[in-house]
Amino acid sequence: MIRRIAINTGGGDAPGLNAVIRAATVAAVRNGWEVLGIRRGYTGLLEGEVDGEPGVFNLTEHGVRGITHLGGTILGTTTRGNPFGMQPRQPDGSWGGRDLSDELISRLRALDVDALLAIGGDGSLKVAHILHQKGMPVIGVPKTIDNDLRATDLTFGFRTAVEVATDAIGRLHSTAEAHQRVMVVEVMGRHTGWIALESGLAGGADVILIPEIPYSLEGVADKIREREEAGRRFSIVVVAEGARPRDGEPSYADRSGRYGGIAERLANQIEDLTGKETRTLVLGHIQRGGSPISSDRVLALQFGTAAVRFIDQMIFGTMVALQGQTIRAVPLVEAVSAVKRVPMDGESICAARSLGICLGD
Ligand code: F6P
Repeated sequence: MIRRIAINTGGGDAPGLNAVIRAATVAAVRNGWEVLGIRRGYTGLLEGEVDGEPGVFNLTEHGVRGITHLGGTILGTTTRGNPFGMQPRQPDGSWGGRDLSDELISRLRALDVDALLAIGGDGSLKVAHILHQKGMPVIGVPKTIDNDLRATDLTFGFRTAVEVATDAIGRLHSTAEAHQRVMVVEVMGRHTGWIALESGLAGGADVILIPEIPYSLEGVADKIREREEAGRRFSIVVVAEGARPRDGEPSYADRSGRYGGIAERLANQIEDLTGKETRTLVLGHIQRGGSPISSDRVLALQFGTAAVRFIDQMIFGTMVALQGQTIRAVPLVEAVSAVKRVPMDGESICAARSLGICLGD
């Protein structure tokens, strides 16, 4: 019998997090359950206090009113909150080191939490999976703008990110044409090119480079020259941050393994090869910020309420997943076992090829 659940949000934020929190809270309260919110991933649970506020607090219907359309997360989040490798906080804010998962579970038990609803991407859901293996009843909700989680057709936040990127790419057309320039737009996507492909298609890109297809620089330059010869004296290149050349490495922003800088690198190479003035735009975190578009709000509300339904049915160790038109509970292990890459025979790749868009191969 469920009496109390806890909710947390982990990893990079995504538009729609607050809609999931609201949906799950309202549905749970209507079931007669109490709902606890944990601040900043698992930090609130482990440290008791976050920024002078209680680390764990009651989420009420009143407290989640009017947040469906808000970006970010009212619970806060962190990309440094893996409880299997924590030790007392370092000056730089990281944890690193000690496994605190048993402590985390005993704190959840001390709070009489019957089930944990973990909203996160691959990293956070791997943590959720291990917590479940250690005996905690857990259900996951898939979140990432990258849309790279297996077992679900979509993650919330993805379509908003595509919308933001599409708008930016669209706006570049007139300025690129006016100046007869090449514009290289770097979008997010560490291991997969979902955002680059969809926004590139929708925004009318001439070249789309994704991690799934290591690119030939000559192929990219040929496409730009071909357009030039046809009188199209500007080109738009969309590149996922994790894309890499056929015979080279991806571009890393720093030693932590974060991606970044591919647009600048490509722009210099394109300019050298084609002689065309080339400029860059790195969209960065704007893709994650702001209000979710309506389809992401609806998906998030569906995910949040479905998660509560599955908790009620005691289907734990699972993640809510959109498959076709239906939301199902799939084993967490299925979702986190591998990355969901863009299929080479998928409709978007086929459409791009039929339209003559250069995919770098
Ligand atoms: O949310 C996923 C993601 O957007 C990646 O595409 C990107 O590399 C990463 O997050 C960057 O996040 P942060 O700068 O917050 O670590």
